[in-house]
Amino acid sequence: MLSLGKIKKIVENKFMDRNHQDRYQHTLGVVKMAKYLAKEYNVSKKKAMLAAYLHDFCKYDEEEDILKLLNEKDKEECKKYPVLYHSYASAEFYKKEIGSDEEIYQAIRNHVFGRIGMSRLEEIVLISDYTEENRTYPSCIHCRDILLGGNLNQAIYESTLLTIEFLKKKNIEPHPLQLEVLKHYEGLCENDIK
Ligand SMILES: [Fe+2]
Ligand SMILES: [Fe+2]
Repeated sequence: MLSLGKIKKIVENKFMDRNHQDRYQHTLGVVKMAKYLAKEYNVSKKKAMLAAYLHDFCKYDEEEDILKLLNEKDKEECKKYPVLYHSYASAEFYKKEIGSDEEIYQAIRNHVFGRIGMSRLEEIVLISDYTEENRTYPSCIHCRDILLGGNLNQAIYESTLLTIEFLKKKNIEPHPLQLEVLKHYEGLCENDIK
């Protein structure tokens, strides 16, 4: 596996060359949060940071480059939910060029909506994306406070709920995975309280 320093350089070069400083800053924020959470929850710091560095890697790629990375099933899915193009493509990029760790692959792939049965690493990348320090929306600050208070399940539940509410206001149907994640983490939160 490449060193974290080399991965960081690859990401930095790509975003800075293409004038996406904001995305690079966001990425550094996700890495910082993922590193902190990995320590808190006893997950490999290197794996969490690597997944965080690469989670948005293909965000601004040309459509034809993204399509080259995706299989037919994923292309169909992304056509319905275009926000998934970048997460699926970034995960495939990881597998093609960087490494073969399944957990890192899944963490990059599922960072947009999450899914049922996420590993701790997947949960960490998902919630770090929503709560990293450069996110200044009230909903993100609210979830960051919950997360830093030690409530990972609650933070995932609330971030999913707030995202679904935001979509509904814009008359956009949530992805079925978002509804599944919402229900699942609602149940986990109830167990946490008991
Ligand atoms: Fe993303
Ligand atoms: Fe992101």
